[in-house]
Amino acid sequence: MSGSKSATRSSSLPPENGASPGGRYWRLLALSLASGAVFAVLFYLWGQELFPRAAGRWGGTFPFVGAVALTLAVALFLSEWFGFAGREVRKVRLAARDFLFLCSLALLLFFAAKAVIDLLAEIPALGRGVPTRVYAYLIPLPAFAMVVRVLINSETSILFTVAASVLSAAAASGSWPTLLFLLLSGTAGAARARRVPDRYRMLMVGVQTAPVCALAAAALEFSFHGGGGLLWAGIFGAVNGLLSGPIALAVMPVAESAFGYASDIRLMELSGTGHPLLSRLMMEMPGTFHHSVVVGTLAEAGALAIGANPVLCRVAALYHDIGKLGKTQYFSENQAGVANVHDAMSPGLSRAVILSHVKEGVRMAGEFRLGDRITEIIAQHHGTSLLYCFLDKARPMIQDRKASEEMFRYPGPKPKTREAAIIMLADATEAAVRSLDRPAPQKVDETVTGIVNRIYLDGQLNECDLTLRDLHAVGRAISQVLAAIAHGRVDYPADGKGAV
Ligand SMILES: [Fe+2]
Ligand SMILES: [Fe+2]
Repeated sequence: MSGSKSATRSSSLPPENGASPGGRYWRLLALSLASGAVFAVLFYLWGQELFPRAAGRWGGTFPFVGAVALTLAVALFLSEWFGFAGREVRKVRLAARDFLFLCSLALLLFFAAKAVIDLLAEIPALGRGVPTRVYAYLIPLPAFAMVVRVLINSETSILFTVAASVLSAAAASGSWPTLLFLLLSGTAGAARARRVPDRYRMLMVGVQTAPVCALAAAALEFSFHGGGGLLWAGIFGAVNGLLSGPIALAVMPVAESAFGYASDIRLMELSGTGHPLLSRLMMEMPGTFHHSVVVGTLAEAGALAIGANPVLCRVAALYHDIGKLGKTQYFSENQAGVANVHDAMSPGLSRAVILSHVKEGVRMAGEFRLGDRITEIIAQHHGTSLLYCFLDKARPMIQDRKASEEMFRYPGPKPKTREAAIIMLADATEAAVRSLDRPAPQKVDETVTGIVNRIYLDGQLNECDLTLRDLHAVGRAISQVLAAIAHGRVDYPADGKGAV
């Protein structure tokens, strides 16, 4: 699975907390009912206006009966829609947080749709020349679909677009042209928001979406209502597309802060060494900082080789070992010129100190709000691999049955995304090649191949979407960068005249 969003998302989570399928269904239904109830309040408030012919024989009791019926209908729709996708589409998340986020966005969109239509109707000058139905072409679904794609992934953004289109079309009295426009414009916005590493790119996504929205609005207006509002429909569609970039940029930081997501824009902000964690790493653990920078370079090259997310790989690599802070002397990259403290420690104690850096890293990532994608990679970067360096020392204990080999494994989980797998490979290969003295490119290649094969045969890549072709491409990319780094370490003549 890719981590963005791309992944992310980027990236996909296992069923939350290992809940049973039945438990997940009931939780989803409960969340759907809650979301449906919120929508029902809106429908209750605006029911007469939105469904003027719906009261029928229920007469005065319609608002109440209608609200209950709508709660059930919306809840069923949401639970069936997202439940089906969660079961059958691999990259669709089922975590309660994601569901809450999507429902909050849909709700916000419903409010925005109603507000846009009502506010424009209040402007008399506009009302004289513009048919009120074309106001619906300003409903900002493209912006919201872009946000979902950037913060979660493309599959979820399509699902969101369909669900939000249906719900928001109700704000425009459920007209066909509105529903079709929302479906089309949302898909167009999401489709263009593939990689958004900075604000300029987000604005450009909006600019590229604008002509599609304008064309869709004009075509729908013409086909359903003739040429009367054609020009205004086109203008409103274009404005909708142009505003989608700024709106998405305004919504994203709030969503990141409230729900713990990390967009590529946020990742780029985190990559500066001004961040307190990176500053500490640089000052207190220069060895680990250097290791992290090299792992980032290797992982970025690996990601580019297979079309994974290079920004996520580079930035997550910078933070992957933050759990080592405070335990500088226990990690080999910081032991240059000093005695190895593990020589005086039992294998069991060494094991506990080394293993703890993963858990501590996850805790620090939460404390500093690094976002879900970096936190997941920190948790998964060693998978359930063995602590080979202490295993030999612990052999006598294992033979005496005072310890088992399994005790010298990291607790996991194994990498779930391609980006986490790439960082695991980059981390292990960098450490192995660093231990070689002036290796030739062929030796680097043999070492990288050996480490990649060992990780694969140990089953560490069983839970991610890395194919054998990807694995080969990542290994080759890492090998080339490591060989170039090793080759660059030339002797500098003592008289200072050699290098230029
Ligand atoms: Fe580590
Ligand atoms: Fe590392």
